[in-house]
Amino acid sequence: MTVLASSLDTAGPDYAAHRAAMLDKLAALDTEHAKAVAGGGEKYTARHRARGKLLVRERIELLLDPDTPFLELSPLAGWGSDYTVGASLVTGIGVVSGVECLITANDPTVRGGASNPWTLKKAFRAHEISLANRLPSVHLVESGGADLPSQKEIFIPGGALFKHLTRSSAAGIPTVAVVFGNSTAGGAYVPGMSDHVIMVKERAKVFLGGPPLVKMATGEESDDESLGGADMHARTSGLADYFAVDEPDALHTARRVVARLDWRKAHPDPPPAAPPAYPEDELLGIVPGDLKVPFDPREVIARIADGSDFDEFKPLYGTSLATGWARLHGYPVGILANARGVLFSEESQKAAQFIQLANQRDIPLVFLHNTTGYMVGKDYEQGGIIKHGAQMINAVSNSRVPHLSVLMGASYGAGHYGMCGRAYDPRFLFAWPSAKSAVMGPQQLAGVLSIVARASAEAKGMPYDEEGDAALRAMVEQQIEAESLPVFLSGRLYDDGVIDPRDTRTVLGICLSAIHTAPYAGVHDGYGVFRL
Ligand code: COA
Repeated sequence: MTVLASSLDTAGPDYAAHRAAMLDKLAALDTEHAKAVAGGGEKYTARHRARGKLLVRERIELLLDPDTPFLELSPLAGWGSDYTVGASLVTGIGVVSGVECLITANDPTVRGGASNPWTLKKAFRAHEISLANRLPSVHLVESGGADLPSQKEIFIPGGALFKHLTRSSAAGIPTVAVVFGNSTAGGAYVPGMSDHVIMVKERAKVFLGGPPLVKMATGEESDDESLGGADMHARTSGLADYFAVDEPDALHTARRVVARLDWRKAHPDPPPAAPPAYPEDELLGIVPGDLKVPFDPREVIARIADGSDFDEFKPLYGTSLATGWARLHGYPVGILANARGVLFSEESQKAAQFIQLANQRDIPLVFLHNTTGYMVGKDYEQGGIIKHGAQMINAVSNSRVPHLSVLMGASYGAGHYGMCGRAYDPRFLFAWPSAKSAVMGPQQLAGVLSIVARASAEAKGMPYDEEGDAALRAMVEQQIEAESLPVFLSGRLYDDGVIDPRDTRTVLGICLSAIHTAPYAGVHDGYGVFRL
């Protein structure tokens, strides 16, 4: 039997404390998500409605099949910056006419839907997801183009938006643009580069230069409609393939266009799967508030894997890392989960072997992070920890099966890399509110800085300022702690979102389904050289 037995004491004080701490973090996260949903705030929302327009999320809702989920991506983009949380763009994966699509939609209530540096990063990430998973993309367009005060950050790199659209098309991945309003200057190339274009009557404004600019450039008198209205583009320029009489008609037309794509997934859907044997709700009470306290990731696996079935590989070897086979919503996966923080040589080699097995069998991998990194110290260095960590990083880097990462707790140092951190291109990466990620823990980093400063003072023959040291350590610790938090990292697009632990199985299920739209295969022609 490989069904996990749980030893989580749901009546005990630890469980209650962990759950309370997680619920506090989730409440704080809700407040941040609410900022993204509020968009430009009451004034601009009311004005938008008074113009008879739908809000960005209402547009998405009408586009999607009724009662299907929408996995919103990077909702906290721009958090901690001068820009509105969410970065004036909503992106995500949703089902349109039975087809999983990547959706991007400008929020015109936020500075006219203009794109700032975070908007751009978010749009680029959405494109990556569409391309890697061969998801058709639907773009709901209404934007003031470049956010003019930050133009220096976006004008030059921003051109890639249009390149991405046409490269998707070249790769055979359909692109659909639905224009609800302003889409001028560079923005005109969104419909310009898309396979299918729908424009809303008397609302769409698609021109390279508006009437004032045309007047300045050539002296010609013109108006919005004759320069770039839906009617003109549908009848005269031919840029619009479909003329929609209003917003619901445009969204209905987009659904029709997607239905006609006859889009087929590379892999058939798996048969219905058994739910885990333990309630997903209990995922709230597993991670301790203090990440120095270890927890057993099998308690997490028992609440996300089909039937809580986890067939463990090498359970007696390298016990700080649990590896094994499971199914998630019917999809076979290999899971690597940190069990006690530190990665030693045995764990690293076990991981490298396991990743190679998954590649031989074409099985996607799920990485559940709670690691403080690879073990340091004389014995471990002499024992070859660098070589063994390198084997794991080689295996992760060159693996070609899709990877999914979830940061549950700590994700520090090179452990973040070995466990397929953001720089290792997992197809998707999500964090729990309990996660923390940095080059090392805040206390350790502050301590290292202090030792270095002390040594530097000694080398110069100067006395060391002990009082200043305590203040420096406290300040650095606070700064690194703040920079390790998931909302901060999510704001910088270092993950695809911070999720409620209870949603993990659903989120991973949506991702696995999206992943199986594209063909994939593991490494069958050899890895790079493993240092032995
Ligand atoms: N960059 C920075 N801020 C912008 C912006 C842009 N491209 N477009 C709009 N905004 C700001 C406005 O200044 C305004 O701010 P305020 O309320 O603090 O004064 C807010 O966003 C809303 O704009 P507003 O013009 O009131 O909204 P609207 O819905 O009536 O019109 C646009 C929206 C996009 C049609 C109009 O703002 C516009 O033409 N913007 C400039 C477009 C442009 O030339 N972009 C460069 C193309 S590359």
